[in-house]
Amino acid sequence: MDAGTSAGDLHDKHASSKQIPVYYHLIVLSRKETFIVEPLDAPLAELLSFVTRHEHGRMKHARMSQFYESTLHIPDSIRDNETVGAGLSSWVHRLDAVAKCYTSDDGKAKDREIAVYERLGSCKAGWRKTILQYYGVLNGCVVLQFAHHGPIRQYLRSSQHDPPLFIKLRWAEQATDAISFLHSKGVLHCDISCNNIFLDSNLNAMVGDFAGSSIDKEQCLGWYETSHSYPNTEDPSEKSEIFALGSTFYEILAGKKPFEGRDDVEIEQAFKRGHFPSLEPLLALKTTILNCWTGKYQTTDELLQDVKQEVRAQSEPLLSNEHHPPHHLVDQIIKTTVKTLACAQEWRDGIQTRVGGQEDNRRAVSSIPE
Ligand SMILES: Nc1ncnc2c1ncn2[C@@H]1O[C@H](COP(=O)(O)OP(=O)(O)OP(=O)(O)O)[C@@H](O)[C@H]1O
Ligand SMILES: [Mg+2]
Repeated sequence: MDAGTSAGDLHDKHASSKQIPVYYHLIVLSRKETFIVEPLDAPLAELLSFVTRHEHGRMKHARMSQFYESTLHIPDSIRDNETVGAGLSSWVHRLDAVAKCYTSDDGKAKDREIAVYERLGSCKAGWRKTILQYYGVLNGCVVLQFAHHGPIRQYLRSSQHDPPLFIKLRWAEQATDAISFLHSKGVLHCDISCNNIFLDSNLNAMVGDFAGSSIDKEQCLGWYETSHSYPNTEDPSEKSEIFALGSTFYEILAGKKPFEGRDDVEIEQAFKRGHFPSLEPLLALKTTILNCWTGKYQTTDELLQDVKQEVRAQSEPLLSNEHHPPHHLVDQIIKTTVKTLACAQEWRDGIQTRVGGQEDNRRAVSSIPE
């Protein structure tokens, strides 16, 4: 596809795709009102029965004059977006987007980024939620989902934000999921870092910035930051990506890059000698990060399993703490329960005595202890 012509590209490109779901919608024109029945994944007969029911209900006094059956093309990328309105010839969806416009003159970075987004979208119906949403090309700029909280690095360095551990672990899992998905599509990111993982309004992490990526082992146009670079290699591979993910997890948990403050040559030398920053102060993922740095994982899927396991292990004690009341409350509950049982016993004995003595047990019932 031509990388940058007009806004029309946005529509035409997606509309011609075979993966686009086709919805039926029915426009019902009556004398008084026009109803547009919500698009439904339903056979026409069902829609007609809906309208008939509708007519006998709300539209009792309106005479239905016309039915229109038409199709509505909604690109996958905006399928879940809010519908702000609908008319006879269109449905209008809301985009919360940015336009990424490129500085380089040769256009390689832009073309590469577009090629990656096309590759990720063209193989699968529906979009991977851990990848920034791509909407197409607008006058040469790439239109992408707006990430409300910007990149993770920016978010962590803002003094107002210190997210809880479970959020940080979720970012690690979402980033790994995204990279594993990229790899399954033949793409190597080549610049994985907290600077290229973005946060939406619910603090979900999404990987973006594919301007330097490699597709099908083609040369990559960018490279990892030194603190994220697998030593002794100039070719990207799943191992170099996993190394960079290790450094990314480190930054998420430590709030700073590995060996931050040291110069690049020093960092490179340290990595070559197999020296890494201490993982002791980290609250989680210590073994996983070390395994990333020391080349223990063959694939990102393997890494993803470990990250998921750690996320589960960390959330279990968290959950059980939430459901266990503090000790002093437990003591109080036990004392109250014992007292209640004693009262209940007393009350039962009382009934038995009174019933045995021909007394009306309704009176006994009225003396149930509080
Ligand atoms: N979808 C987005 N939502 C919000 N902010 C964004 C988005 N995309 C980019 N940004 C902002 O613009 C900056 C640059 O974007 P991006 O990383 O895609 O381009 P880049 O030119 O490759 O940058 P870098 O060289 O720093 O990696 C990001 O660090 C971020 O602050
Ligand atoms: Mg970037």
